[in-house]
Amino acid sequence: MSNIVNDDINEFIIKNTRLDLSNDLMDLEVYALENNVPIIDKQVQNFISIMLKINIPKNILEFGTAIGFSSIFMCEQLQGNVEITTVERDKNRIIKAKENFKKFGYENKIRLIEGDCFENFEYLDRGYDFIFIDSSKSHYEKLLNNCIQNLNKNGIIIFDNVLYKGMVASDSLVVKRKKTIVNNMRKFLKNVVNDTRFSTMLLPIGDGIMILRRN
Ligand SMILES: C[S@@+](CC[C@H](N)C(=O)[O-])C[C@H]1O[C@@H](n2cnc3c(N)ncnc32)[C@H](O)[C@@H]1O
Repeated sequence: MSNIVNDDINEFIIKNTRLDLSNDLMDLEVYALENNVPIIDKQVQNFISIMLKINIPKNILEFGTAIGFSSIFMCEQLQGNVEITTVERDKNRIIKAKENFKKFGYENKIRLIEGDCFENFEYLDRGYDFIFIDSSKSHYEKLLNNCIQNLNKNGIIIFDNVLYKGMVASDSLVVKRKKTIVNNMRKFLKNVVNDTRFSTMLLPIGDGIMILRRN
């Protein structure tokens, strides 16, 4: 139960989703699910896939690599015609991600920046057409401010988990220990939606997605 969309509807949508993933990537997805590594779900995969095909980015920035599933997914969807910079701070996940990039033959396509994205700013060295934000849910506003000057004209940013199990939208779902994240996310959404520099859309996909385009 995601709390975002009713289970039957979710199931129906997933049944009516076709995604072309290599067998190795499907195995990596199973590995992640079996080992409790959080990765983008099917609906988010589908959404990102279609956005990539519309936007055709040459340079992607991702915050939150985990073991590399979403970076490899984006590379596959664009048939390797892309350069991805991805940032991760967890040492064990970094080791796994590096192994995976090598295994899939994408070491030269995916640049892994090791460390906290608020401490290691190597990713600010170029312009990006597509930015995927999938880390540090409490700090999306700070992340946006850090990287917005690196978003190319007509570029887009996708933020994952913006409804955070429905808690961001509904007080009745909020659990006490998540209050700070929920409040920060609500503040972020309010500020970004009212910022006339951007066009935005909030969608009930996966754990909630926000898409942003600079006007
Ligand atoms: C949801 S996972 C990313 C999943 C990945 N995008 C995928 O779908 O395959 C979020 C990751 O962000 C990393 N992370 C969280 N805060 C971070 C920070 N401040 N700097 C760098 N990485 C961070 C976590 O260690 C975690 O591995």
